[in-house]
Amino acid sequence: MTLAILSALADEQRGLIEQLEQPEQLTHAGRVFWRGQLQGQAVVLALSRIGKVSAAVTTTALIERFAARQIVFTGVAGGMGAGVEVGDVVVATQFIQHDLDVSPLFARYEVPLYGQSCFAADAMLQQQLLQASRTALQTLGLPARVHQGLLASGDQFVGSAQAAADVRRHLAAAGHLPLAVEMEGAAVAQVCHDYGVPFAAVRTISDRADDTAHVDFTVFARDVAGRYAQAIVSSFLKAL
Ligand code: ADE
Repeated sequence: MTLAILSALADEQRGLIEQLEQPEQLTHAGRVFWRGQLQGQAVVLALSRIGKVSAAVTTTALIERFAARQIVFTGVAGGMGAGVEVGDVVVATQFIQHDLDVSPLFARYEVPLYGQSCFAADAMLQQQLLQASRTALQTLGLPARVHQGLLASGDQFVGSAQAAADVRRHLAAAGHLPLAVEMEGAAVAQVCHDYGVPFAAVRTISDRADDTAHVDFTVFARDVAGRYAQAIVSSFLKAL
């Protein structure tokens, strides 16, 4: 059964490609996919690309063309919840699109014709990512925390305290309390829901979605994200 590992950043994917046994590189839908084995597990590796539409296309290709039957996502995110700090890890329990609004025809955030606003992460993959994240932080010797909760996705880099407060306030008014904000998770979750493919995601907090987010994000993505992704995926695969 093929496991797809979707990475948000090339730096997160590089270590995985280096370890891939019997690597095979394929191009499809203008994207590069890597097939092979990692720790005895059949895998396909891809970059999600940035934003919901791009991530949805990549996910569809993984399922339709590469027979992915489980998908895990590693990436970075802007911390939104209280106490969700740079360097912490968030394992998603659910996903919501914070920029979706078809009101008054549907409740705000409800995905039309689905009757729901949130898509749940697969329970088993989620537990495995949680354990892998805890082990990874120990291995890396970092005192950071692992959180579990709602991830909010939108086609927007949330890069000011005001923008973050607005996203948080609107979601809270509808009863949703996001731990972090990113740009792909809810789209991947929706595609996986449609195909019945189990999906879970882990995000390392690169910034606080505030006025310095663009600087914090850039430094974290360049210097740190790869090490986290490597440690988390490697301990995830070991436990399979
Ligand atoms: N990914 C990492 N940080 C982010 C932010 N502040 N907004 C959206 N996506 C992000």
